[in-house]
Amino acid sequence: MRGVVFDGKRVEVAYDLQVRDPGPGEVLVAIQAAGLCHSDLSVVDGTIPFPVPVVLGHEGAGVVEAVGVGVTHVVPGDHVALSTLANCGTCAECDRGRPTMCRQAIGRPGQPFTRSGRPVFQFASNSAFAELTVVKAVQAVRVPKDIPLPLAALIGCGVLTGVGAVLNRAKVDRGDSVVVIGAGGIGLNVIQGARIAGALRIVAVDANPAKEAVARQFGATDFLTSVEAVRELLPAGADHAFECVGRVELIRAAVDLLDRHGQAILLGVPPAGAEASFVVSSMYLDKSILGCRYGSSRPQRDIALYAELYRGGRLLLDELVTQTYPVEEFDRAAADAEAGKVARAVLTF
Ligand SMILES: NC(=O)c1ccc[n+]([C@@H]2O[C@H](COP(=O)([O-])OP(=O)(O)OC[C@H]3O[C@@H](n4cnc5c(N)ncnc54)[C@H](O)[C@@H]3O)[C@@H](O)[C@H]2O)c1
Ligand SMILES: [Zn+2]
Ligand SMILES: [Zn+2]
Repeated sequence: MRGVVFDGKRVEVAYDLQVRDPGPGEVLVAIQAAGLCHSDLSVVDGTIPFPVPVVLGHEGAGVVEAVGVGVTHVVPGDHVALSTLANCGTCAECDRGRPTMCRQAIGRPGQPFTRSGRPVFQFASNSAFAELTVVKAVQAVRVPKDIPLPLAALIGCGVLTGVGAVLNRAKVDRGDSVVVIGAGGIGLNVIQGARIAGALRIVAVDANPAKEAVARQFGATDFLTSVEAVRELLPAGADHAFECVGRVELIRAAVDLLDRHGQAILLGVPPAGAEASFVVSSMYLDKSILGCRYGSSRPQRDIALYAELYRGGRLLLDELVTQTYPVEEFDRAAADAEAGKVARAVLTF
């Protein structure tokens, strides 16, 4: 079968990939579409270290092909969006509703794929850039069949991370002021999350002026190409500043833009080991810096919620898919994403 494989040096569309059968508690999914998130590109450029060879992709949706022993919540033929959380479901963190913190699911990449008999790693417990992938039952979330799969795919990372950061982590309230630094696939979902939460002022900042139209479409009330000008719009600062690029100087800017009691939410992923600084005395006014993994999501609940918000016209998904690319054209999709030509590039199988 086909899949996008990174071997540590280059990315290649492989045709000789194989995946094992689903074991007990696992689901085999025929991927129909998968969004290209910056985290996939960050594996290739070394920003996110990951063992190789690896099948990339972690924002996918498809059709259940087969289920392993003990799986009853989905059956072959069901449409599913996939989460990246292979959480165990039985530990204290899972039990208290924090599957993103499950220790069983962090830093233990599996190798369900083979190529010429050699094992290949699975990225983010997911590897959605493959015709077939095997995930844990908790990761396969059924979605209504009237939602096109290229749209459902984007829920699996961009929406869960961006909207989830607003609703679950920052808990943005009606009337709050929000600054969103970076209006890519993650930032646009922070923007629409803030709109859904009832934020009054949503200031989008993106170095690429071409992002203005889509940022406003998703709910931005203002658009700037640099963080420097935010103070002119929000003289007292912001209640929430989301960093959605992954650069330490923008993390610093997010902290510096906070009003009293404000919080900076860190979503962007700079290179491993990167350090950021802040003026300590600025923080005593009840300010907070919040890390956020995967929107602090609870995928079975949240994916179902976002699917309904989409059907009700409140969550935009169609507008995120600027263009689809057959998986063979991964290089073109990656180039367009890097150049900022798309909100999300979506690969199809
Ligand atoms: N915390 C998490 O769980 C999580 C989940 C998914 C992605 N991420 C991370 O979020 C980040 C964004 O991912 P994405 O898929 O939205 O990327 P993207 O490439 O789609 O978007 C990045 C945006 O940042 C803008 N940008 C770049 N430099 C800028 C600057 N100096 N000032 C203002 N804007 C700038 C670009 O123009 C682009 O619009 C990445 O670091 C990714 O790894 C984190
Ligand atoms: Zn992602
Ligand atoms: Zn657990």
